[in-house]
Amino acid sequence: MEHPESLRQRDEELAALRSDNRRLTMLLHLVEAMSAELDLTTLLEKMVVSAVDLLHAKQGAIGLVDEERHAIRHRALHNLPEALLDIDFTEGVGISGQVYALKRPVIVGNYGEQVNLPIDDSDMRQIRAAVSVPIWWQDRLNGVFSIGTDDPTRAFGAQDVAALELFAKHAAIAIENARLYEHAERLAQIDERNRLARELHDSVTQSLFTIVLMTDAIRNYLQGGEDAAPTAELLYQTARDTLTEMRALIYELRPAALEGEGLITALRKLGQAIQTRHQLQVTVRQYGIQRLTQEQEEALFRVAQEALHNVVKHARAHRAEIELHLSAKEIRLVVKDNGIGMEPRPTHRSRKRRTRSGGMGFSIMRERLAGLGGDFRVRADASIGLQIDACVPLS
Ligand SMILES: Nc1ncnc2c1ncn2[C@@H]1O[C@H](COP(=O)(O)OP(=O)(O)O)[C@@H](O)[C@H]1O
Ligand SMILES: [Mg+2]
Repeated sequence: MEHPESLRQRDEELAALRSDNRRLTMLLHLVEAMSAELDLTTLLEKMVVSAVDLLHAKQGAIGLVDEERHAIRHRALHNLPEALLDIDFTEGVGISGQVYALKRPVIVGNYGEQVNLPIDDSDMRQIRAAVSVPIWWQDRLNGVFSIGTDDPTRAFGAQDVAALELFAKHAAIAIENARLYEHAERLAQIDERNRLARELHDSVTQSLFTIVLMTDAIRNYLQGGEDAAPTAELLYQTARDTLTEMRALIYELRPAALEGEGLITALRKLGQAIQTRHQLQVTVRQYGIQRLTQEQEEALFRVAQEALHNVVKHARAHRAEIELHLSAKEIRLVVKDNGIGMEPRPTHRSRKRRTRSGGMGFSIMRERLAGLGGDFRVRADASIGLQIDACVPLS
């Protein structure tokens, strides 16, 4: 028969093992929840509930440091008044404010009496023992994790601090993850906006510019008693094309002209359209044969489109040439005109207008080429005209 003393000891050991086991299981669940949950608030709420459960406590809270307000702001609460979410826990306010000031764990035996209450609330005054630990990420204090109980017989000790600190470490990772995720999302949005701005500039802005010019011409014809019908017809077509283009832009941004046709056909159509609308003779030539990807076709089409519109807008040329040189080594697109070369810099007054309405063309072309690993060059000479070279290397 065993000695009662050793029996008692074994019971204690067993209980300790069970509690360790419980802790491990809990942490495992937590890690699982963390990897499945991307929303930070939901995740922090889950953590608070787990921590309260594990430490046999009642109330729990996680607050994050708000650098601008120099305070802790709570993001997740359990069995605590919601009003706490709107309060700045500056240094010394509540147990969170104490941890924020001291940057170390704090234990109190009677929260309601010992702590500078953030709000005067009967529920808050009920809280007895409480423990709160800092949430560190590397050397930075990120937030505070707090637990409380209204059981007057419960006291918190070093073991509870250690357990809560383990939670705090997990919370730190989750917070950092969520921050990175938010940051990545913001970057993706900026990227998307830049792309949309680029597409809009390339297609719709250009077409609207043409529409304005045509409308102006029609007004002049009408005033002079001339026949405006052919220009009105062109205007109608351009407006319809713009609508199609706008639709294409909305349905994933592929130029309507490229749909179902190769780049060279699309370029010929583009040249034809511009030739009919403006006093500009446009020739399009292809040298060599090579299959292009959709991405390459689209980028080169946009570059040619912008270059031709520049000729119309700035060059005072009467001839423009588009050349597409294809080989296994590279694709080269050349657009040249016989105009004035680089238009002189705008005067102070018109420069203001330009920053508002344009001047993006060249940088967008350069960006597009860089996106394909290629390069973009402009050569201008008053005696020859202006020429752009867009080169995409093929592996
Ligand atoms: N073919 C051209 N002939 C003469 N000047 C040109 C030509 N293409 C561009 N430019 C000049 O380069 C400037 C920059 O062109 P771009 O970046 O496309 O801006 P935007 O066309 O919106 O003014 C134009 O404002 C114009 O002064
Ligand atoms: Mg331009």
